[in-house]
Amino acid sequence: MGEKEMTMEKSKKILVTRNFPENGLNLLEEQGFELLQWDQERPMTQSELIHRAKECHGMLCTLTDLIDDHFLNQCRHLEVISQYAVGYDNIDIHGATHAGIPIGFTPDAMSEATADIAFGLMIATSRKMFYLHKSILKGEWGFFRPKGHLGMELKNRTLGIFGLGRIGMKMAQRCKGAYGMDILYCSRTRSWEAEKELSARFVSFDELLKNSDILSVHSVLNDDTRGVFDKQAFEKMKKSAIFINTARGPVHNEPDLLHALETGEIRGAGLDVTDPEPMDKNNPMLTMENVSVLPHIGSGTQEARNEMSMLAARNIIAFYQTGKMPHCVNPEVLG
Ligand code: DGY
Repeated sequence: MGEKEMTMEKSKKILVTRNFPENGLNLLEEQGFELLQWDQERPMTQSELIHRAKECHGMLCTLTDLIDDHFLNQCRHLEVISQYAVGYDNIDIHGATHAGIPIGFTPDAMSEATADIAFGLMIATSRKMFYLHKSILKGEWGFFRPKGHLGMELKNRTLGIFGLGRIGMKMAQRCKGAYGMDILYCSRTRSWEAEKELSARFVSFDELLKNSDILSVHSVLNDDTRGVFDKQAFEKMKKSAIFINTARGPVHNEPDLLHALETGEIRGAGLDVTDPEPMDKNNPMLTMENVSVLPHIGSGTQEARNEMSMLAARNIIAFYQTGKMPHCVNPEVLG
């Protein structure tokens, strides 16, 4: 790319929709991009987003920014959108592709961090940790009770992974290594790596439901996965099963999940994602013995968030410098 084009690239204005870690933003500024930074802690409303995006060439955004049909109709001029997340269900990818806008994302940066949260929720739920912590706060730590607060051991259980990508693989490795679990998985594609390394078995959705002691969701949210964990699905699961979701809340139907927990269809649930988010503070799940809830912190480590910032920035820089992107959801628009 020539000197003249580089000079033009350096004047590109990028809307930065949240307070992202500085390392990626500094990188963009060092490369000559002008940043229009939204500095409030809350996400913009869609009209605020559109208003600012109209002034910019590109956008660095995240899962709380709604990039739907309405947004795309108003902002067809955008040259690039770089999403600070591995998931991109807030973006109408088909519409963006139609508008010729490449969408960047940040895969793998948060795989270890998110698998740790899934693993942690599994243990916390099997031993009722969140509930028991709350009971101490209420002054309910009585005497040692030989038959009180009994949990379930995880050794040699069967882990079912729904959506075996990078994060699901890390969760499976943890469960195999720590507890010698058998691994089942139901996914769009076979994972030869998981089958070879962990003796994982590729199964149908029904088999996954029927045979998992722990069922951990790591899939994307799309039309195929929205609400797949519903009443019928929970009824097929073992009564002793623990359901974990660290992917996206709408993959489970939340009223159906609550019903399954209340009626003992399943043993417990560990959620880092809910539907809606944030979860209402009066949601009954927050006080249930068999439920552990976290506020969508899967990727919330210093390391992961910094790496996501760098990947999101590099997607923009590479797009303007080479016409390509290291991590693009719809590479077909790049030609
Ligand atoms: C993601 O990356 O999709 C997480 O949900 C948020 O970091």
